[in-house]
Amino acid sequence: MANPTLLILPGDGIGPEVMEQVERIIGWFGDKRGHAFDVTTDLVGGAAYDAHGTPLTDETMAKAQEVDAVLLGAVGGPKYDDLDFSVKPERGLLRLRKEMDLYSNLRPAQCFDALADFSSLKKDVVAGLDIMIVRELTSGVYFGEPRGIQDDNEGGRIGVNTQRYTTSEIRRVARSAFELAKRRSNKVCSMEKANVMESGILWREEVSWVHENEYPDVELSHMYADNGAMQLVRAPKQFDVIVTDNLFGDILSDCAAMLTGSLGMLPSASLGAPMENGRPKALYEPVHGSAPDIAGQGKANPCACVLSFAMALRYSFDLGEEATRLENAVQSVLAAGTRTADLMQAGDAKPVSTKEMGDAILAELDASL
Ligand code: IPM
Ligand code: MG
Repeated sequence: MANPTLLILPGDGIGPEVMEQVERIIGWFGDKRGHAFDVTTDLVGGAAYDAHGTPLTDETMAKAQEVDAVLLGAVGGPKYDDLDFSVKPERGLLRLRKEMDLYSNLRPAQCFDALADFSSLKKDVVAGLDIMIVRELTSGVYFGEPRGIQDDNEGGRIGVNTQRYTTSEIRRVARSAFELAKRRSNKVCSMEKANVMESGILWREEVSWVHENEYPDVELSHMYADNGAMQLVRAPKQFDVIVTDNLFGDILSDCAAMLTGSLGMLPSASLGAPMENGRPKALYEPVHGSAPDIAGQGKANPCACVLSFAMALRYSFDLGEEATRLENAVQSVLAAGTRTADLMQAGDAKPVSTKEMGDAILAELDASL
C-alpha cells in the first residue's frame, strides 16, 4: 500500500522552525515504527505572498485537497499589516478551512502536571485539566454575507459583518462534539448568546435537536458565551467538551489555552467530511501564531506543533497508540525539566532551543521502544 500523504505548510514567523522539529519526528515514525509518510512542502501566508503575490496559490489549494492531511505552522507578521485585506496572510488559512470544508475545529486544553505552576490561575484550579473545545470553523461571522465597509453617505462609514448559521451547519458540528464526548466524559456544554442573537436561538435549538434525536445518553447543558468565559477561568474543570460557533470559539479557545500555562503547548485539528478513503479532510496546526518577535532565533517552543502531529496520527491515521507515545514523550521531556523560553520561571536554569527541544523529544521516543 502507498504511504499516506502529508502536505506541510510551515508558513511564517516561527512556523518554519517549529515545523522543522515535526519533520524530524515524522521521519522517526517512518524509520522506527514503520509508519512512513510521503511529505511535500509548500508555501502559505506571507511566505506565499512574497513568492507569488497571494497567500495561497490555486496549485497549493489543489494539493491540500488531494493529500491525506495538511500540517500548518503559522501565518502572519507585522510586515504584512498594511496589505489589502484580500491578500493578508490570514486569508490563506481561511481559504484552506473554507474550501476543505473543515467545519469541526478541535482545540484540546490540557494542563500537563509539569506545567501547572505556569498558569496565571491557581494551581489547584488547573491541575489535571483536560477539556476539548469544538469550534465551528467554516461559517458564522467569519464568512457571512453581506460584509464590508461602505460609506453612509453622511460623511461617515459603516462596517458590516453577518453572523449566519444554517440548520445543517449547526447539526454537523454538534454531532462531532457529541461523538467526541462519548469517548471522553460524556458531557457537552454548548455556548452561544441566545439571549441577544437569533442565530444563538437557532444554535441552541439545533444542538438540542441533535441531542434528543441522536445522542440522548450524552449529558448536554447550554451556557451564554459570556458566562462561559467567566466559568472557564473560575472553574474550568466543570467542562468536558464545549461546542460553540466560529467567533466565540476563537475567543474562548485562547482563554482556555492560557489555563494550561503556555500557548506554546496547544495543538489543534480541523476536520471535515470523510474522503473516499474514509479519512476525514484534515488540517492540523498549533493554536499559537507566528510570534514574529522571536522568529528565527531558535527560541520557539515546538511542542504545540509536535502535538498537532500527534492529533494527526490519532484522527487521520487511526494510530492512537502512536499518538499517545508521542504525547507521553512530550510529557516526559517537560517532567524532566526541559524548557523552552516560554516555559521559564524565575530561578530556572537556561532554556533550551527549539532544536534541543526536538532532540529531547526524539530521545524520549527512542526510550519508548
Ligand atoms: C485562530 C486564529 C485565526 C482565527 C486567525 C489567524 C485568522 O486566531 O486560528 O484562532 O481567527 O481563526
Ligand atoms: Mg484565534
